[in-house]
Amino acid sequence: GKISIVGAPMDLGQLRRGVDMGPSAIRYAGVVERLESLGYQVNDLGDIEIGRDRLTTDPLTGLRNLEAVVQASTKIADKVDKIMKEGSFPLVLGGDHSIAIGTLAGISKYFKRLGVIWFDAHGDLNTPETSPSGNIHGMSLAVSLGLGETTLTQIGGYCPKIQPENIVIIGARSLDEGEKRLIKEKGIKVYTMHEIDRLGIPKVIEETIAYFKDRTDGVHLSLDLDGLDPLYAPGVGTPVEGGLNYRESHLAMEMFFESEMITSAEFVEVNPILDEKNKTGILAVGLMASLFGESLL
Ligand code: ARG
Ligand code: MN
Ligand code: MN
Ligand code: MN
Repeated sequence: GKISIVGAPMDLGQLRRGVDMGPSAIRYAGVVERLESLGYQVNDLGDIEIGRDRLTTDPLTGLRNLEAVVQASTKIADKVDKIMKEGSFPLVLGGDHSIAIGTLAGISKYFKRLGVIWFDAHGDLNTPETSPSGNIHGMSLAVSLGLGETTLTQIGGYCPKIQPENIVIIGARSLDEGEKRLIKEKGIKVYTMHEIDRLGIPKVIEETIAYFKDRTDGVHLSLDLDGLDPLYAPGVGTPVEGGLNYRESHLAMEMFFESEMITSAEFVEVNPILDEKNKTGILAVGLMASLFGESLL
């Protein structure tokens, strides 16, 4: 198969500096070589240009860097769209989680019913009304559902990108009140750490795969490294203790590979400034390898 890697050095969706260096950290951890060694034809398309115009706050909505995020998301969507058109697997390297707005805008029109796995400590389901921070990386899943600021929900020229019943959130342990309300209102399927502790990750992933099996014709994996415990992924801007461990996360990727269900992926929130000797970048590459079929024997 063919994999097209594109870097989205986005840091405008939140306030911590350094997450724009995520794509470099992942490349230095050897992503191209690792995936090539699995037999894929890997094409690294380089980075999308992200505006440097930081620290504006939209007076109407309180959203930070709105204009720049809209422009960058449009570029991400165009690039991912081209990759899909060529029949290659889009693998997007973040950058903060606001990049999912562009990724999903580029991908979703190629499917009738795209499924999304949101692997994350957070829901990223805030709207301008419910956001405690004004940070767009905490809104990207809501935006993809068509909720929130119109210039964001309309990226790619269509809205919404996904339906609430085609989402599974895995690893949640830090949900804002407005996000909890939205999850209940829309009936979004969520495996919080509580369910993961009770069921175990094999059952959770089996159920997720079974859930998507008949209802979707493609599945996007949006993996926020803060879904893992900060013990394993310290290089993230919004760490939350009590996350998935190393083997649980790898097993999830290995089971997704076996399901042959995943049609696109993004790995986000790697911040080398906050990291320990690129531990989180190296972890991300290992997870990608498992997702693409690297096995232990
Ligand atoms: N819920 C918080 C907010 O809306 C944190 C979001 C963190 N999101 C992320 N992609 N790391 O600001
Ligand atoms: Mn996230
Ligand atoms: Mn997160
Ligand atoms: Mn592995």
